[in-house]
Amino acid sequence: MDAKERAARSAVAQVASGQVVGLGTGSTASRALQVLADRIRDEGLEVIGVPTSRATEEESRRLGIPLTTLEEHPVVDLAFDGADQVDARLAAIKGYGGALLREKIVARCAKRLLIMVDASKLAETLHLAVPVEVLPFGLGAARHHLERIGGQPRLRLRQGAPYLTDNGNQIFDADFGEIRDPGALAARIAELPGVVGHGLFVDLVDEVHVGEADCARVVRR
Ligand code: A5P
Repeated sequence: MDAKERAARSAVAQVASGQVVGLGTGSTASRALQVLADRIRDEGLEVIGVPTSRATEEESRRLGIPLTTLEEHPVVDLAFDGADQVDARLAAIKGYGGALLREKIVARCAKRLLIMVDASKLAETLHLAVPVEVLPFGLGAARHHLERIGGQPRLRLRQGAPYLTDNGNQIFDADFGEIRDPGALAARIAELPGVVGHGLFVDLVDEVHVGEADCARVVRR
């Protein structure tokens, strides 16, 4: 078992029967889906999941996890998801898998958000580039304004063409260097023209389940 799976097992152990569960996206979330499916099969756990991407929806169906929508269940009891970087105050950068917008919607509907990472994702201060989802119509404006507030936006590509999210939008990975005040930066990015969402998760994470070489530990807000 690797560190990601240890983190996933630790988080999924928190899921209880009767819950509406937010299902994250990415390789760590994928391990958590497998653990959840095992619990449904082996323990008779009764849950219903809200997927945060088409990929997670497909994988969940394949694993036999019952699914719902925010239309039917706008309140989510617990959501689990991966992250790309987490700082000492549990602010996180997400979205390297492209699902940041739906991930944040589900996170904001969740009573508890559990993040699962291996220890390499922990940092005293966030410093990775921030994924920013942009409506194609507003691409030029968003680039201009991201630069104006001190970012270096790089358009995300896949096989040479602009990467498209599940929502039909594009992504800038905007480098701001060390992010000493994630809340302030999050507010500034959110108000830029063309921006529909970004991967800074501030005051949203309740617990971080950290997979280590031989155990998992939980950091609470
Ligand atoms: C998906 O858009 C992301 O937010 C992922 O949760 C994040 O990139 C972590 O992915 P891994 O678990 O694959 O590292």
